[in-house]
Amino acid sequence: RAAQQAQSQSMSEALSQACDYYRAQLKSAANAISYLKQRGLTGEVAARFGMGYAPSGWDNLRTIFPDYEALALVESGLVIDKVDEDGGNKKRYDRFRERIMFPIRNTKGQVIGFGGRVLGSGEPKYLNSPETPLFQKGLELYGLFEARQAIRDAGYVLVTEGYMDVVALAQLGFPQAVATLGTACTSTHVQKLLRQTDNVIFSFDGDKAGRRAARRALEACLPQVSDNKTIRFLFLPQEHDPDSFVRAFGADAFAQEINDAMPLSQFLLREVTGEHDLSTPEGRAATQYDAKPLLQAMTPSSLRLQIVRGLASLTESSPAEIESLFELSKPVSS
Ligand code: CTP
Ligand code: MN
Ligand code: MN
Ligand code: MN
Ligand code: MN
Repeated sequence: RAAQQAQSQSMSEALSQACDYYRAQLKSAANAISYLKQRGLTGEVAARFGMGYAPSGWDNLRTIFPDYEALALVESGLVIDKVDEDGGNKKRYDRFRERIMFPIRNTKGQVIGFGGRVLGSGEPKYLNSPETPLFQKGLELYGLFEARQAIRDAGYVLVTEGYMDVVALAQLGFPQAVATLGTACTSTHVQKLLRQTDNVIFSFDGDKAGRRAARRALEACLPQVSDNKTIRFLFLPQEHDPDSFVRAFGADAFAQEINDAMPLSQFLLREVTGEHDLSTPEGRAATQYDAKPLLQAMTPSSLRLQIVRGLASLTESSPAEIESLFELSKPVSS
């Protein structure tokens, strides 16, 4: 255990030193600065998020880590060991090269990993730190450390997909935004969000992947919603994400979208209705069939009852019929 702690600490130190190095590099990287400017970002917001630049070159980190062979460098994902074809000779090189660097912090503010974006086009668009004992992608929310006070002030959190969404929103007046790092929203994410605030607004990309992400977020939320929490979904036009939307239409338009965000109950009923024809018994039955697992995932609450009522009226049933058909558990009486 002590050894484990020492390992985490040296990884954490390496990541923090690398973060400082990337930040310093950004100051003199004309190409990176011009890319960020072209995307409308100010130096101020870049500094707020500790953004940096990993220059070209295979072993720049040698300049800050005299012991480039240290184990912590591989373990933290900053360098990669390439094993020669003949098996033996290992060659070590920097993972991040010619990329805009976004440090990812845990809730204590320690750097636990990075996302690196290519300047312009190129593959992969984002290169992320590998999973390490410090960094598990499905558990972390980018920007949560930076957003904590703003979430308290605003009374809600905005959950987006990407680094650029968080940074752009912060710059344009919405510092209460975090991102799931492109992975599906997990129940751990939801737990972390609800620990900060009772009000969550998911704002994923308007494309197909974003709508799928909203559906996954809905499912992750159901077991954790309760009557004092409000979960809503903001759907952007197909071709937009929060970053592009707020830049194209401005902060007031985005504030309006926040106002108009769809409550979880409405989204759920819309999802289960889908393409079913509610004017036919088959369509109403199929709607109930699709609703069953979602309602079963919810704990007994007034909200669940309200959704059951909504479903009952859509499908020409009574709430009691749905409750018994779905074998919904009764609230535990105290
Ligand atoms: N992502 C990733 N690796 C990729 C593509 C995406 O890790 N190759 C993650 C990143 O966290 C990214 C998020 O998924 O921010 C959302 O992806 P996408 O919408 O494609 O990127 P944007 O954040 O919109 O980035 P940009 O505006 O720079 O294109
Ligand atoms: Mn996307
Ligand atoms: Mn984008
Ligand atoms: Mn996007
Ligand atoms: Mn169906």
